[in-house]
Amino acid sequence: MPPRNREIILGIGGGIAAYKSADLLRRLRDSGFLVTVIPTRSSLNFVGKATWEALSSREVHEDLWSNVHSVPHIALAKKAAAIVIAPTTADLLARIAQGRADDLLTNTVIASPAPLILVPAMHPEMWLNPATQANVALLKSRGVHIIEPDTGRLTGEDSGVGRFPETARILSSIQEVLGASSDYAGKRVLISAGGTREAIDPVRYIGNNSSGKQGYSIASAAASRGASVTLVSANVQLPDLDGVRIIHVKSAMEMQSALTEEFANCDLLVMAAAVADARPSVVGEVKIGKEDLQRIELIRNPDIVHELVRVKSAHQVVIGFAAETGANAIDRARKKLSVKGLDLLFCNDVSGGAIFNSEITSGTILDSAGNHWDVMDISKDTLADQLLDLALNKLG
Ligand code: C5P
Repeated sequence: MPPRNREIILGIGGGIAAYKSADLLRRLRDSGFLVTVIPTRSSLNFVGKATWEALSSREVHEDLWSNVHSVPHIALAKKAAAIVIAPTTADLLARIAQGRADDLLTNTVIASPAPLILVPAMHPEMWLNPATQANVALLKSRGVHIIEPDTGRLTGEDSGVGRFPETARILSSIQEVLGASSDYAGKRVLISAGGTREAIDPVRYIGNNSSGKQGYSIASAAASRGASVTLVSANVQLPDLDGVRIIHVKSAMEMQSALTEEFANCDLLVMAAAVADARPSVVGEVKIGKEDLQRIELIRNPDIVHELVRVKSAHQVVIGFAAETGANAIDRARKKLSVKGLDLLFCNDVSGGAIFNSEITSGTILDSAGNHWDVMDISKDTLADQLLDLALNKLG
């Protein structure tokens, strides 16, 4: 499950406005984007590689000849959700319009199917030059997004059209192109996912069928909407998510201690994990022989979310999940929501093993005000966004 819409390549052209892209980079990262910077050689005269590495927390390459074995421009081009070049110089406009590939940035541009967003900034004479305007028209006709420069003060005493736009305008254009939003910027989201395993002995355990897909979808969606996300993950077969802090646990008790440690630092808790209701009262230090396996004594696990709700602050929102089978599922779910003190609960009917490990889900979202919404055959990604939308209303 790759994170959606989060990988951005930020190309830096050789103009004085390069320094303004440091702010753009910060704002992109604050909005939950993962950014790889590719400066042109000439841009390094304005802003050095160390600045880009520090602000992106990633290695920065400026030529095709370092790291040749990994063909970095192709790998980067494939995974990018968008390429943004800010500032774009007159020379870059010309090279991209011609389809040239004479440095790492233009190689990446020509190798990528991702939307290309150019932010030209230059002196008015260069911007208004018929050659530049013809290149801009040609690029627009090919579907390239050009953010028109502002009019105002330029380097030194000059003023006119060609000024680098305000960061907010660039950011909202990027979000518009990507259909992304950063409505969770500044919010801290804690998510549990997967299914706990309760050891019987060093070899055996009591477990359940949870795949972790729903919790991972929520983590990915929250991160792409700008949240800072911590995922407490139990026994899943899914790759770690880029840009999401992951704590791996096995048992209910381990999950409880990780969540208890993290809970005070979150605004939203999404308890998507299937927590075993009980665990063996004694864990065999060595493998228990078949002849002694007639009976395993169990003790109840704590209800993790219930305990956390007891200590929650007014600003915190908590979402639970209920996997139900059979008649009156909604009634049982509503009772669960109120007993556990949840703000929202998603109840799905898992009769016959449905939903587990599937990409698709169906069920009912309930809230503490008595509302409910039925959802039918939607992707777990879509449910993730719907739950986050409802939680955001409560977070304010
Ligand atoms: O009671 P039930 O297991 O159906 O409740 C489901 C919800 O409660 C889920 O959100 C689950 O993560 C949480 N839960 C818990 N601790 C338990 C059992 C369930 O936090 N021991």
